[in-house]
Amino acid sequence: MKKILIINGPNLNLLGLREVEVYGAKTLAEIEKLTREMLAGEKLSLHLDWVQFNGEGQIVDKIHEVFTTASHDGLVINPGAFSHTSIAILDALKILKIPIVEVHLSHTLKREGFRQNKITAFASIGVIEGFGEWVYYLGIKALCL
Ligand code: DQA
Repeated sequence: MKKILIINGPNLNLLGLREVEVYGAKTLAEIEKLTREMLAGEKLSLHLDWVQFNGEGQIVDKIHEVFTTASHDGLVINPGAFSHTSIAILDALKILKIPIVEVHLSHTLKREGFRQNKITAFASIGVIEGFGEWVYYLGIKALCL
């Protein structure tokens, strides 16, 4: 059984309400349900844990917990705006020995210049973005290759 943690960063708790034209109409809970349902139809032995934090320190603390307890085999992270700003989250991610996939719902390459720099992505094996609600499913699948 592969244990995968999905970490969501700031403002993602308001998916479905927030800039729907950019991030889609589904809530984070609906995306989690959709992702679980899609994966349940496949013969993968997975345990998924989903969390969301608005605070940078909370994300760092969770990553430390993953490290100290060796709780998971892989991590999918949508750091939200912290992707573009947080050396602290990058440094925490670099402590982990497990594979990390960074995901973004929106196609950030088509967006503002400040979204082009993805500091946290330096710790990832790859980035999946622009496929809306499907990026979590695709990110988890990437960890199963
Ligand atoms: C995002 C992209 C970020 O630039 C933005 O700050 C977010 C969401 C995405 O999933 O598309 O909060 O991570």
